[in-house]
Amino acid sequence: MKPSILVEIPQDNFKSYPIYIDKEPVKDLAKKLNKLSANKKRLIIISNKVYKLYKNEFNFKKEEIFILKDGENQKNIKNYQRIIEKAIQLGLSRKDLIIAIGGGVVGDLAGFVAATYMRGIEFIQVPTTLLAFVDSSVGGKTAIDLPYAKNYIGAFYQPKMVFINLNFILTLDKRQMLSGFGEILKYAFIENSCKSEKSYLLLEFLSIAADRILENNMNLIERLIKICLELKISVVTKDETESGLRKVLNFGHTYGHALETITHYKKYTHGEAVVYGMMLAFDYALSTKMINHTYYNLAYDLFKKYGYKTIKPVKYNREEIINIMKSDKKANAGIITMILPDRKGSVIETEITDESLFEM
Ligand SMILES: NC(=O)c1ccc[n+]([C@@H]2O[C@H](COP(=O)([O-])OP(=O)(O)OC[C@H]3O[C@@H](n4cnc5c(N)ncnc54)[C@H](O)[C@@H]3O)[C@@H](O)[C@H]2O)c1
Repeated sequence: MKPSILVEIPQDNFKSYPIYIDKEPVKDLAKKLNKLSANKKRLIIISNKVYKLYKNEFNFKKEEIFILKDGENQKNIKNYQRIIEKAIQLGLSRKDLIIAIGGGVVGDLAGFVAATYMRGIEFIQVPTTLLAFVDSSVGGKTAIDLPYAKNYIGAFYQPKMVFINLNFILTLDKRQMLSGFGEILKYAFIENSCKSEKSYLLLEFLSIAADRILENNMNLIERLIKICLELKISVVTKDETESGLRKVLNFGHTYGHALETITHYKKYTHGEAVVYGMMLAFDYALSTKMINHTYYNLAYDLFKKYGYKTIKPVKYNREEIINIMKSDKKANAGIITMILPDRKGSVIETEITDESLFEM
């Protein structure tokens, strides 16, 4: 099997892993997973919805699967413990395998289990949402949420391999597709800060091809997935553990995470929250004259094109939101730091000196 992309992490002894992108029938993917886990015990962590939709194609044994209920609020410590107990019950050793099949929620939780079970067991990512294709399945961030802070417990732990099967898109509903486009828009706004050798002109591409992309043109979507992954890989291979460059990937996430937290992880999809976070960042950057009106309008046009209402969500308690942002992992001694746009396709880490300028 020739990988579509190879991720090589210099800081981790040049550890590398392949990403396979294809449109093969899900049944064939299942056969590959069986082959890879032959002679091993395995624990498959799969999203409830994906299990219901694809159980015939996967044909897993009941005892080897952990079905995770749907929703961000399932990425929690209780499920972490339940899965660890299941791994112990199955007798998994360090030589065995965990397979994550689902969106970013399953991937983040399963990855954290893999990172910590016996101090590390191999795991394979099988993302099934657009958002997980372009972002969460690659790069090695794994985590669970606390009721008052998102992704607060986690580890950097790279998967053994990633299988992106485009067929999964066919069963995603419109809201989940738009959520994926939220993270894709993020890559367009940060492209020039990703230090990639290639230029993809993603902003222009998303703007010109919007109609065809939104009609689910698979060739264009495949191209988008590859561009986003190449940008992400350019970043994470230079800074695996977010000591510097990797922070650019957090564009939209400070306010986005606060929105998810204040609504108990029930109201917004992750992509929606990130889009509102990017809007807040664009508003702040305009009010502090970091960007001009032309770029601001271009960004808002793109949000609209990709189905987002450009009115911010219902107002929540401003002080509470700011406090959540201050307790974010990215804050520094109670000062909110945010990734803000400073030029077309480029962002910069900035300390927020005047919270009163937040329009929320
Ligand atoms: N680790 C990272 O680097 C990283 C990056 C971005 C986001 N994330 C995390 O990813 C999570 C969001 O991921 P998400 O947007 O995939 O949400 P999700 O995992 O909650 O999936 C969204 C919904 O789609 C359903 N679903 C999944 N695949 C489907 C399919 N093929 N057909 C029909 N329904 C399907 C799921 O069951 C779920 O109900 C958040 O927890 C976020 O923090 C992590």
